[in-house]
Amino acid sequence: MNGEDQYLDHIYQRFPVNIARGKGAKVWDTSDREYIDCMGGYGVAIVGHCNDRVVQAIRTQLEKLIVCHMSLYNDTRLKFLQKLSTITPAGLDKIFFSNSGAEAVEAALKFSRKFTGKAGVIAMNGAYHGKTFGALSVTYNEKYRKSFQPLLQGVKFVPYADPSKVEDAIDDTIGTVIVEPIQGESGIIVPPDNVIESIRRICDQHKLVLVFDEIQSGLGRTGKMWAGQLWNTVPDIMCLAKGIAGGVPMGLTITRTEIIECIKTGEHSSTFSGNPLACAAGYATLEALTEDKLVENAEKTGRYFKENLLMLKERHRIIREIRGRGMMLAVELRFDVKDILLDAMRRGLLMLYSGKNIIRLLPPIVMDEQTVSQAIHIIDLVLSAEEKRRHVV
Ligand SMILES: Cc1ncc(COP(=O)(O)O)c(C=O)c1O
Repeated sequence: MNGEDQYLDHIYQRFPVNIARGKGAKVWDTSDREYIDCMGGYGVAIVGHCNDRVVQAIRTQLEKLIVCHMSLYNDTRLKFLQKLSTITPAGLDKIFFSNSGAEAVEAALKFSRKFTGKAGVIAMNGAYHGKTFGALSVTYNEKYRKSFQPLLQGVKFVPYADPSKVEDAIDDTIGTVIVEPIQGESGIIVPPDNVIESIRRICDQHKLVLVFDEIQSGLGRTGKMWAGQLWNTVPDIMCLAKGIAGGVPMGLTITRTEIIECIKTGEHSSTFSGNPLACAAGYATLEALTEDKLVENAEKTGRYFKENLLMLKERHRIIREIRGRGMMLAVELRFDVKDILLDAMRRGLLMLYSGKNIIRLLPPIVMDEQTVSQAIHIIDLVLSAEEKRRHVV
């Protein structure tokens, strides 16, 4: 038991590793043991641990100003907004700040409800949008929902890969459709081509607001700045969080002007919103993504990672499927992955799980091919050991 456990509760599943420091795609524990980090803080460490640009920006801002409420102006915030607006999809011109993914989704649901005047939302089977009441209402997994009913009324879940089911679910109550362009927590589910474009078309035909939750898939993770670009599709509202401020908490809800215009002054807010420290870190993160060509690296190194995983699949019958785009990858196994994750940790590799039998990989997108090869070698060893244990030949 770690000392922390004495004060905390059991709400997070925890692994026996005590991380002391990190750099790039690696972290070190308190005994200075090195780990390749394919967990990446659940996708937060997108531009790498302690990214030089982010560290420098935070240092500089710390000396100047940490607190500045949204009711006052601040040049660091302006700089971040200007930089962000150079990469946001066309037509998404207005930005609302919050502090987490779930909050970004809450804002999207509220803005869309007010704009459309309709409470009904279509969400996808398998969706994950966070665990506050609104975000939980559009999150699919019964395990998270069942103890907290009643949630928001009027949410309908439809199969992710079948846009005709979206159309079937539309009635007078529905104003919003919310989608992860690639589903993350349910195991890196990439929709078949045409699905995302068709959902856009259906929303246009029925005048519904389309929300993309790019909290996990955005910011270069898939090899495109936005996963929506994989299908040339722009939503009406886009939610961001996780790595947007290099590890400092920030959520963003980015909308078409007429949507946010319907919200009256003061109708939605958050005290920490747009704080200068997060904005300084956010500007440095965007600089790293664009100037250091990290999105291109996610595409190239992600492809190398996937090709190597596919080669492992040839050798290991325990692997059922390899999925994903860029640095958003999954290895679906035929068995429970918990022992595999623990064994990989012992051998110096941190990975995530999705459900019982899926390994999820969300490494910092600064990772290079040599580090990917080391990770592949460890996965190979771990799978061989597991197959031997289970007598799979
Ligand atoms: C797609 C997606 N939406 C929303 C969230 C919720 O974000 P947060 O945990 O910051 O509230 C997550 C978190 O994993 C996510 O992956």
